Amino acid sequence: MDALLNSSPLSPWKRNEIFSVWLHNAWKGLCFVFFLSGCEKNSPITFSEHIAPVIHQNCTPCHRPDGPGPFSLITYKDVLKKAKTIKQVVSTRYMPPWPADPYYTHFADERVLSDENISLIVQWIENGTPLGDSTKIPPPPAFPEKSLLGKPDLVLKMKKPLFVKGDNKDKFLLMKFPWDIERDTFIRAIEFVPGKKKLVHHMNGFMINYEDGKKKNAFEGEWWVDTYEYEYPAAYEKMKLAHDDGTYPALTPSVSNYLPGVLPFIYPEGIGGFSIKKKGVILLKDIHYGPRAKDDYDDSYFNIFFDSVPPKRRTKEFQLGTLGHVREIVPPLVISPDTVMTFKTKWTVPADISILTINPHMHLLGKNYLAYALTPAGDTIRLIKIPQWKFNWQYFYTFKKPVKIPLGSTIFVFGTYDNTANNPHNPFSPPRTVGEREGSMRTTDEMFQFIITYLPYQDGDENIDLEGEMKKLKNQHNKTP
Ligand code: HEC
Repeated sequence: MDALLNSSPLSPWKRNEIFSVWLHNAWKGLCFVFFLSGCEKNSPITFSEHIAPVIHQNCTPCHRPDGPGPFSLITYKDVLKKAKTIKQVVSTRYMPPWPADPYYTHFADERVLSDENISLIVQWIENGTPLGDSTKIPPPPAFPEKSLLGKPDLVLKMKKPLFVKGDNKDKFLLMKFPWDIERDTFIRAIEFVPGKKKLVHHMNGFMINYEDGKKKNAFEGEWWVDTYEYEYPAAYEKMKLAHDDGTYPALTPSVSNYLPGVLPFIYPEGIGGFSIKKKGVILLKDIHYGPRAKDDYDDSYFNIFFDSVPPKRRTKEFQLGTLGHVREIVPPLVISPDTVMTFKTKWTVPADISILTINPHMHLLGKNYLAYALTPAGDTIRLIKIPQWKFNWQYFYTFKKPVKIPLGSTIFVFGTYDNTANNPHNPFSPPRTVGEREGSMRTTDEMFQFIITYLPYQDGDENIDLEGEMKKLKNQHNKTP
């Protein structure tokens, strides 16, 4: 399997770098050819005309005051200060962070620089970072802080701002955001707004709806617990998530997810949405605060947008691997010390489905990841390839258009783990046996999951523009104040 993942002697990144260098030389060559016509003189690459738009679109969403990036990249001065590192991080594709191989599959709202843009930035830095005509610098994009989606119908806040100790440690908490409203209703979208973007690393939101009359107080119990102190079911008991009679209501997975720089996701009209009861909670399972040296407070919240009609096509979720609907992993997920091992899981789809979104999940030993479907006719449908796993960037990847997987196809998922001392993220030195442990989501235990959000297939699904709604948001987002 490793052979399959690494079948090419050059990783796509490497190939890409070579391509960029080639492009860059081709560009120079072109300029040389057009030298007499004044190519170098008339259209040198300048910050004002060429670089600012690329930076504003691809970097500023994270690199701005109060953004998740460690410094701002907005003005000429900002970019100049970091020019050397920028050249390095863009040519190695370390930034913008996007672990999925763009040569394998494309996704909506993809954060990937084109080869042309990489070459443009590199060339500009090598040319000595000319400013150009400063009156031509486009205004920086505006980022509404409270909501990208408009005015919410309901805001779910923390009980009080959460104290986050500055002890340079990662924190993984379970947290609940309860509600108690007048009547059952429908939800079109749920937007998570991180309180401190430099603090909140990621969050996965699930939903609980309490059946009529079965829960007096959705607010009772602890509003958060540390997953390093409590495992399931003890954590759920502390948070009093059960009905009053001790039975557990159904848990709706992945109603909202957040990672730095990712916009709240809305599927187009008619797809997705939820029915909710009068009482319920959004359960963060989990929320991750990155290591920080300074004490701080977080006051993240949810904006809820109601709908007047019930969801037409509810999305479904299928999980492969650890704690999933199909749990068989081959071989069982136990990674011996000083080994690099590949594991496999698979699911044969029982009907035609349209995949909307996928989420590959591994922890610190993750090395690479591959998922595709094989149809009964023998065709391969590519899903995702992650040549180099990045624990910190575990996106929910939404396809540009739904991907139809015909009945009887098998989805294969391969995950490779590096449990050697060469893995800089290995939590143990010397390496130890690491595996999955029922009930544990600790990062020092491993998981191997593939989460699929899908719809039962309908004619025409292949043509639905899943990106459209996101694009609208982005345009709104990029409008100047
Ligand atoms: C999705 C959010 C996001 C986007 C988009 C993004 N960055 Fe970053 N960037 C970060 C975060 C978070 C860090 C710090 C952690 C890290 O290095 O991963 C960072 C770190 C950096 C660093 C420091 C790296 C180092 O080794 O010190 C540079 C330089 C950088 N980014 C440049 C860029 C450029 C240039 C772009 C656009 C082409 C960009 N970033 C896009 C989030 C982002």
